[in-house]
Amino acid sequence: MADRVALVTGGTRGIGAAIVRRLSADGFTVAISGRTPESVKSGLDAFRKEGIAVVGQAANARREEDQKALVDFVGRQFGRLDVLVNNAGVGGFDSVDRLSPEDFRKTVETNLFGPYYAIHYAAPLMKKNGGGFIVNIGSLAGVNAFAGGSAYNASKFGLLGRRARLRIWFAIPIGRSPHGSSCVRRDRRKSSYQYSVVSCQFNHTISISID
Ligand SMILES: NC(=O)c1ccc[n+]([C@@H]2O[C@H](COP(=O)([O-])OP(=O)(O)OC[C@H]3O[C@@H](n4cnc5c(N)ncnc54)[C@H](OP(=O)(O)O)[C@@H]3O)[C@@H](O)[C@H]2O)c1
Repeated sequence: MADRVALVTGGTRGIGAAIVRRLSADGFTVAISGRTPESVKSGLDAFRKEGIAVVGQAANARREEDQKALVDFVGRQFGRLDVLVNNAGVGGFDSVDRLSPEDFRKTVETNLFGPYYAIHYAAPLMKKNGGGFIVNIGSLAGVNAFAGGSAYNASKFGLLGRRARLRIWFAIPIGRSPHGSSCVRRDRRKSSYQYSVVSCQFNHTISISID
């Protein structure tokens, strides 16, 4: 069985790929998702070229059955899940009268329902091995509304709002990075578990310290 396992949704590129690199460097066995088998394969190929061993499965964050199958895949492969990073996200930006209902749905379903589905199915697997860390990649758009951001703001405000609920589920304190990402951390003073924080900056650099 792998020692420590992380799942990064939308780990094929961008911020997600940066998180994968860091988790892998920190000794995690990492699984990723993307929307299609082709995009996942292309992400995995890129990691392989960098010498990073990652597994992955296509899973559309908008589909509950895909998110469930993704967690099942991780459970079958590794038998445990220690860190879930809900990173997969999209932005549909336009004034509310021009933004199509489909674009609004797509943004909210990907950014808000996707993390909910993943957490819902991942929580039992995490609890099996004593708990874990859930990191929801938020945004300053989750604290500041802006013109044209109705769908993106709604999705990221919702994501940050749910932290209070997670605190109850996992009985751990939850903090916020200085850059607006939603972070989960376990207080050293309250348990022997280690401290985890994700800081998502806007120039696509990621710093994760898990010690
Ligand atoms: N970039 C920023 O400045 C910024 C700022 C604040 C917050 N964020 C947040 O950071 C996260 C990552 O952003 P990014 O800039 O790295 O985005 P990106 O480069 O566009 O990458 C998005 C990732 O999400 C995946 N994805 C998108 N829709 C998906 C779906 N329906 N199902 C599964 N995977 C899906 C993509 O996978 P495939 O394309 O392989 O399917 C890709 O791996 C998002 O949550 C975003 O809201 C970004």
